Amino acid sequence: MTDLQIQPEGSQSQLLGDSPALTRVVWAARITAASDVTVLIQGESGSGKELFARAIHMDSQRKLQPMVTVNCAAIPENLAESMLFGHIKGSFTGAFADQQGYVQSAHKGTLFLDEVGELSLSVQAKLLRFLESSECEKVGSTITEQVNVRVIAATNRDLRKEIKKGHFREDLFYRLHVIPLEIPPLRERIEDLKLLLVHFTRTLAEQYRVDAPEYSKAALKALKEYHWPGNVRELRNFCERMTILLSGQTVDVDNLPVEIKTARQAAGKTLLSLPENGLSLEKLEIELIQQALDKTSGNRTRAARLLGLTRDTLLYRMKKYSLT
Ligand SMILES: Nc1ncnc2c1ncn2[C@@H]1O[C@H](COP(=O)(O)OP(=O)(O)OP(=O)(O)O)[C@@H](O)[C@H]1O
Ligand SMILES: [Mg+2]
Repeated sequence: MTDLQIQPEGSQSQLLGDSPALTRVVWAARITAASDVTVLIQGESGSGKELFARAIHMDSQRKLQPMVTVNCAAIPENLAESMLFGHIKGSFTGAFADQQGYVQSAHKGTLFLDEVGELSLSVQAKLLRFLESSECEKVGSTITEQVNVRVIAATNRDLRKEIKKGHFREDLFYRLHVIPLEIPPLRERIEDLKLLLVHFTRTLAEQYRVDAPEYSKAALKALKEYHWPGNVRELRNFCERMTILLSGQTVDVDNLPVEIKTARQAAGKTLLSLPENGLSLEKLEIELIQQALDKTSGNRTRAARLLGLTRDTLLYRMKKYSLT
């Protein structure tokens, strides 16, 4: 078995990370790369789905053949069939010549269907037929062609939910789902952050011919606490910003973008902070009970709910503090 392309530093497309969560997916991808099996890559935006698809192709026996990427979200619904399977001259207004589709262009190679969840139901039906039989016809043609492609699909949608909503065909889902690869979001493999941070900062500094910035311990901690909704892409963009704005300097918490600082403050926020000279827990409890009763116009059941207590516990405490 060949190694998945976790290439040496310096390459644009190296897949970095040694967290257990990522290593598990790399291991599964490495096994699937060797065969022609259909792979469905799922993961949040920016988590590395396309990078994985490329790595699988480059580690497969088809690596010297083309990998054709179809961004299913970007093809207009009325042209999707002809873009995928091609058309013949005169088959519709504007079809001035015979045209190959993406599928035929990928012959002997890999067809990467990115954002597959965006295809319309009618195109999904045609895709299913092709996946089952490796046969297709150009739009307007009755000649059936045999095409040999390995299909990798990717989506950041939850396709099971799309099936429930009637937006995605269940049979196509199972056809694509032969080997599912779930790319974990960056927040679930935060151990990888430092490696990615250092790598991106170093390569971007080389690219812009500036000195790479460094990161203070506090900044690194804040970065690890952030939830990274845009995943590795967001981290890379952050590194680019820091490399340009703070080249050769040390990035501290104050220099971090507001969304990262705010998330940190929110995470660090406690319910109440103890005043310097302390307080009386008993008085605080009495005050909170009174506030809850005021808020609910004396309704004890609702007041208890506001305080996270049972009604009996609230009544017991009210009796204890002689509250009526
Ligand atoms: N493990 C990784 N190591 C190094 N770079 C990575 C890794 N994962 C993602 N990247 C980089 O992050 C960026 C986003 O990755 P990619 O385009 O593969 O994500 P995606 O899941 O396809 O995103 P989208 O859902 O938005 O299409 C790219 O620049 C990619 O090279
Ligand atoms: Mg992508």
